[in-house]
Amino acid sequence: MEPITLFKDKRILLGVTGSIAAYKAVDLASKLTQVGALVDVIMTDAAQRFVLPITFSSVTGRPVYTSMWHSDTGGGLPTHIAHVGLGEGADLFVIAPITANTIAKLASGLADDLLSVTALAAHCPTIIAPAMDGGMYQHPATQSNLHTLVKRGVTLIEPEVGRFASGMVGKGRFPDTLTLIGHIRRVLGREGALAGRKIVITAGGTREAIDPVRYITNHSSGKQGYALAQAALDVGADVILISAARNLPVPLGAALVPVNSAQQMCDVVLKYVDGADALIKAAAVADFRPAQIADQKIKKSHDASEAPSLALTRTPDILLAVKQQRAESGWPRVVVGFAAESQNLLDNAQDKLTRKGLDMIVANDITAPDAGFAVDTNRVVILDAQGAQESLDLASKAAVSEQVIARVVTLLES
Ligand code: CTP
Repeated sequence: MEPITLFKDKRILLGVTGSIAAYKAVDLASKLTQVGALVDVIMTDAAQRFVLPITFSSVTGRPVYTSMWHSDTGGGLPTHIAHVGLGEGADLFVIAPITANTIAKLASGLADDLLSVTALAAHCPTIIAPAMDGGMYQHPATQSNLHTLVKRGVTLIEPEVGRFASGMVGKGRFPDTLTLIGHIRRVLGREGALAGRKIVITAGGTREAIDPVRYITNHSSGKQGYALAQAALDVGADVILISAARNLPVPLGAALVPVNSAQQMCDVVLKYVDGADALIKAAAVADFRPAQIADQKIKKSHDASEAPSLALTRTPDILLAVKQQRAESGWPRVVVGFAAESQNLLDNAQDKLTRKGLDMIVANDITAPDAGFAVDTNRVVILDAQGAQESLDLASKAAVSEQVIARVVTLLES
């Protein structure tokens, strides 16, 4: 995984307890390290029956802590007292997987090993991800203990329904690493610059139906829009993702509104921008649609030289409709457009910025092989309504998104 700004220099305590899912926590520790976090692993005795400490230290490059009684805690901790030192200055305590036994200990404040002592001493936010047999998870004792922890402010990542190591099926499976990281991002970002702000983002290429089988679309993958949604979530925003894209993983925490046509996207955008702080229109909206949508599949004739012709009509320009609504209601407070151009990049972008009443436009040259549709990188120029113009270096769509979101923050503050 690529480094993620949100995780840069963050010290995450990863508590691992004795569940078979402990081996999956190795992947979590590895990915958290790859995205830039400093991961200090604490293992219970039972966890060490499933995985060795050296497995974790190999992927984190840091010591693994297993006992309260080691005097040398190492690892550059703020104090030599392990249980206090580990918690002090930590940004987050993630206990994954957490067993029913450790849940019970935490709920009643027991402190008889390094993990449970650290949980009492730490002041940072705590996330727990239970993994156990479905019967144990649903047991009233476990549910009551979880309720106590959640009431106390602990974030619970619900286990998933699926097959256990025992072969039985139920609720208790450890979620996959990306889901866990999605939850961790939400907690780390929750007090970010867009906390409490509603940001509407559109993504993907609209689909304009010809008949029940066929449609017209474009090459937009939706990747830039989804990356923008993740970047906004990382700074605490409430994100509504209006998407014509399919098959992309939805960033955890985004409210997805799937759409197909430009008209549908227009209707939904006009509804959701009411009361929104910003609209970011990364979608590639079709400008034309078939004038008639056939009710039945259009059949070809037996004459091989014959083909139907398609009459097209214009779709609504969504940003123009937003401009009009905004003039009356004042919402959304900030509007950002995108301009995908194959020629005269700056002139065309400037024209769209002015004509569509935007605060900012992100322009890119779609003919460049390393920018634009489908690829994971983009090379953009950002123009704003005050006449400023800035070219960003080639960067991942995630990095471009962080830059765009940072400018949205500035616009909302000004
Ligand atoms: N857009 C829109 N409604 C449309 C077409 C585009 O809201 N019917 C938005 C896009 O989401 C984007 C911006 O307008 O934020 C520019 O889109 P683009 O396709 O580059 O420009 P068009 O306005 O369609 O102009 P042209 O196709 O002539 O370049």
